[in-house]
Order: sequence, then structure tokens, then C-alpha cells
Amino acid sequence: MTIYQVRQSAHETLDDVITPAMGARAPHPILLMSSILLAGVVYLGLISHVAANYSLPWRPQVHFTPPENWMNDPNGLYRDANGLWHMYYQYADVIPPGNDKSWGSATSENLYAWTNLPIAIDDIPNVSSIWSGSAVIDSENTSGFFPNQTDGVVAFYTSWTSTIQSQFMAFSSDNGLTFTNYPGNPVINLNITDFRDPKVLWYAPTESWILVVSHADDGFIAFYSSSDLITWTQVSTFSHPSIQECPQFITIPLRANIWEPNSTIIDQMYMLAISDNTESTVKYVPGTFNGTTFTPVTSFPAATGGLAPSMDFGIDSYATAFYYGLDPTENVVSTSWAVNLGYATDVPTSSEGWQSAMSVPRNHFLVLGADDGYLLASLPVDMSSMRDTEPYHFLPWAPAKSSSIIPILTRGLSSSTSKCLHL
Ligand SMILES: *[C@@H]1O[C@H](CO)[C@@H](O)[C@H](O)[C@H]1NC(C)=O
Ligand SMILES: *[C@@H]1O[C@H](CO)[C@@H](O)[C@H](O)[C@H]1NC(C)=O
Ligand SMILES: *[C@@H]1O[C@H](CO)[C@@H](O)[C@H](O)[C@H]1NC(C)=O
Ligand SMILES: *[C@@H]1O[C@H](CO)[C@@H](O)[C@H](O)[C@H]1NC(C)=O
Ligand SMILES: *[C@@H]1O[C@H](CO)[C@@H](O)[C@H](O)[C@H]1NC(C)=O
Ligand SMILES: *[C@@H]1O[C@H](CO)[C@@H](O)[C@H](O)[C@H]1NC(C)=O
Repeated sequence: MTIYQVRQSAHETLDDVITPAMGARAPHPILLMSSILLAGVVYLGLISHVAANYSLPWRPQVHFTPPENWMNDPNGLYRDANGLWHMYYQYADVIPPGNDKSWGSATSENLYAWTNLPIAIDDIPNVSSIWSGSAVIDSENTSGFFPNQTDGVVAFYTSWTSTIQSQFMAFSSDNGLTFTNYPGNPVINLNITDFRDPKVLWYAPTESWILVVSHADDGFIAFYSSSDLITWTQVSTFSHPSIQECPQFITIPLRANIWEPNSTIIDQMYMLAISDNTESTVKYVPGTFNGTTFTPVTSFPAATGGLAPSMDFGIDSYATAFYYGLDPTENVVSTSWAVNLGYATDVPTSSEGWQSAMSVPRNHFLVLGADDGYLLASLPVDMSSMRDTEPYHFLPWAPAKSSSIIPILTRGLSSSTSKCLHL
């Protein structure tokens, strides 16, 4: 969860963090139900989609935007065994948002054309807000939640209340469409505030799950280990000087040539990425990991004074998250919240009933520069899938909040039929 600021003055501080009164909840996004027949396969049950109007002037047409209302951090990113990309995001049904957040939901076959789905994990207003987190696929049923199933999804998020941030778990038996909160929540509770954004990784050598979570104001990331995704033990910490959020811990290929995204893999490294709320940037720290302790490389670019470098030159990319479920030899894939924390809530798109966009999806790998230490290569995910796609205005989207037009929405139909297209 990103703590964002209202733009007020050139010398704003974190005291400016907005906490508007939690008012009446707007009507929930319209859920449109349709059942579809897939080439010879009857898709059992109803599939819900969320209508939106993507034809108004402020709507980005490549970047993902929420169907309506407020969005911030990408959450729970994963790619399933069929290659479908799943993205959740911090969602609030009021603009500007308060602290109450849920997980909005969307899926895509190519990371550019998205199908909006109903809220995946809903908040309990004024009781527990569903803040940022991650998702993994428990293909071996380590949690015990998934008898006879290899595609169970387990999500981790921070439950926010005004006095406690603690780590909750929810599980999904329908490939991420709906989640059930684990009855034994919280799974990690230190009875403190500023403790958030769990990100989980499978560590094969010890057959353990590793969770990183931010002690945001205390300048460190805690590493936890678990064999069953339920019982967690802290195994180490990693310090980083800033107010930090949304830690990401991933494996990433170290390649031979920065200009060749498929050049020889020299090494498989670990990388910690940390969103630095003080600067509104995302720092990356390559290193090694032995199952308990992350050891950063010591060689950072001279240009950053020996500190961890930022992923981007600008400060309009934040809360970067990486997809779970990729092969270790693939380049990793990220999505960022396309924002500067100074103006997050101060953009004109609220006149169209929505606010905030994601970055384009990006591929990344590491290279070893001559004098510059480890460098992160970043390039947009191949856009060629968009080349022959119909422009948005041919898509049969219903106006927001109208039930008079039923969009022909797809999940799994051929790519030529309508999709939620964000250009
Ligand atoms: C949440 O709290 C606010 C402020 O106290 C109040 O106005 C609102 O009605 C509450 N909402 C719910 C759903 O209880
Ligand atoms: C999944 O775990 C549960 C609980 O341990 C167990 O009852 C079930 O048999 C397991 N299923 C498989 C296929 O391993
Ligand atoms: C799992 O599969 C076994 C064998 O087919 C079956 O007996 C059992 O009822 C199944 N369990 C669940 C929860 O579906
Ligand atoms: C949690 O912290 C609060 C505030 O410090 C304290 O009042 C409360 O007793 C604590 N609860 C537990 C279970 O430790
Ligand atoms: C090469 O890398 C790019 C970027 O990660 C990726 O899109 C593409 O699929 C890769 N090609 C092959 C043949 O692996
Ligand atoms: C991992 O590295 C840390 C720091 O060097 C060390 O204390 C710990 O014993 C190592 N653990 C394993 C399993 O090798």
C-alpha cells in the first residue's frame, strides 16, 4: 500500500498524508453476467465482467486504468499455467480515496488488453481494509487448501486498521476469480502500524516459502520463512535508508548483453526492489540469497553514490510489482503504478469518474556493467499483439453505471472479439 500525499505545497511532508472522512460508499461497479460456450467446452457457471467507459478523452489507451473510481498499487500479480496474466490492484470506490481499499481484478492474455473482473477481495468498511500484497500458486498443496488441485492461488495482503497493520492470507480455488479469507488470520501480527506489503517467493533448495514485508518507518525489510504458507518465522532483516513500501523479492537472470534480452544467462540472481516513499522512486538491489539471508552486491553505480539505484530516471513510476509464476530463465515482468506521489490525487481524470493508470508492462534482466556495477535492463513487453487490434471505439462497452446496454465481453473467446482495451 502506498501512502500518497495530496499536493499542497512545495514543502509537503508525510504529515500531509490524506485521510478524508470515510463517507458513503458509491454504488458498486455493475456486474454483468453472461455464460459462454468455449470451443466444445461448456464453461460452467456465470462469468462476471465490470463495465466501464473507455472512450472518454482522458482515458489512456495503452495503459491499464480502473473501470471506474480510484486505483493505486498493482497487487498479487501472477501468470497461471495456461499463460493468462492476473492483476489485482488497490481499489477504492470513492475519489479521492480514504484508507478503505479492496483488491480490484483483471486478466489479460497479452498484458495490454484486459478483462475487468469483479472485486476479488473486498474490504470491511471501517474494520479492515485490504492493502497491498502478492499472490503465489500453491501447485503442491503445501497449504492443504487445495485437495485434488494444482492451480490453487494464495494471496497475501496487509489488513489495515487505524491501530494495526498485519498480514492476512486468502485463498482461491477458481484461479483467482474469488478468494476466501483464511479463518486463522492474521498469519503475521506484531501489533504494530507501518508493517505492510507482503511479497512471497518459492525457494526450491529448502522447499520453503519466503515472505518479505516492510517495516515502513523503521527502515528495514523483514524476511520470513514457511513450509505451509500459514506458519511464518522471521529469519533475517535487510536495512535500507528511507520510508519504504511494496518490497519485492524475486529471482532474475543476469545476462551477458544489455542490448540482447535473450543473451546468455550468466547467473541466476536475487533482487530486492523497494518503493522509496521519501523520493517517490523504486530502488533495486541485486544480491544472493541462501534461504535465510539476502546479501546485496557491493558494487552499485558510482552515479548513485554507492547507494542502490532507481529503476527509472523519472519519479512517475511507483509501487512496482513483479509477476509470480514465470520460468527462472525468462526475463521477469513488472507493472508499476504510473504516478508521482506528489500529484496522485490531483489529476483531472476524476471528471470522468476514474483516477490513476498503470505503467506499460516491462521485461527486466540484470547485466554487469564495466564500471557501473549491476544494471537493471527494462524494456516494454512486446506490443505486437496490439497491432491489429480494433480501436476502443468499436468495442461494445456500456456506459458506466448503465444496465441498458449489455457488453459482449469475453474471457477465453478468440482474440478478435471484444476486450477491455487500454491503449
Ligand atoms: C465509517 O466511519 C465513518 C466515519 O466515522 C462513518 O461516517 C461511516 O458511516 C462508517 N461506515 C460504515 C460502513 O460503517
Ligand atoms: C491437500 O492437503 C490436504 C490437507 O493436508 C489433504 O487433506 C489433501 O489430501 C491434500 N491433497 C493432495 C492432492 O495432496
Ligand atoms: C479427491 O480425489 C479423490 C480421488 O479421486 C476423491 O476420492 C476425493 O473425493 C477428492 N476430494 C475432493 C475434495 O474433491
Ligand atoms: C497492541 O498494542 C496496543 C497499543 O500499544 C496495546 O494497547 C494492546 O494491548 C496490544 N495488544 C496485544 C495483544 O498485545
Ligand atoms: C526474448 O526476450 C524478450 C524480452 O524478455 C521476450 O519477449 C521474448 O519472448 C524472448 N524471446 C525468446 C525466443 O526467448
Ligand atoms: C546464510 O547466510 C547468513 C549470513 O552469512 C548465515 O548467518 C547463515 O548461517 C546462512 N544460512 C545458511 C542456511 O547457509
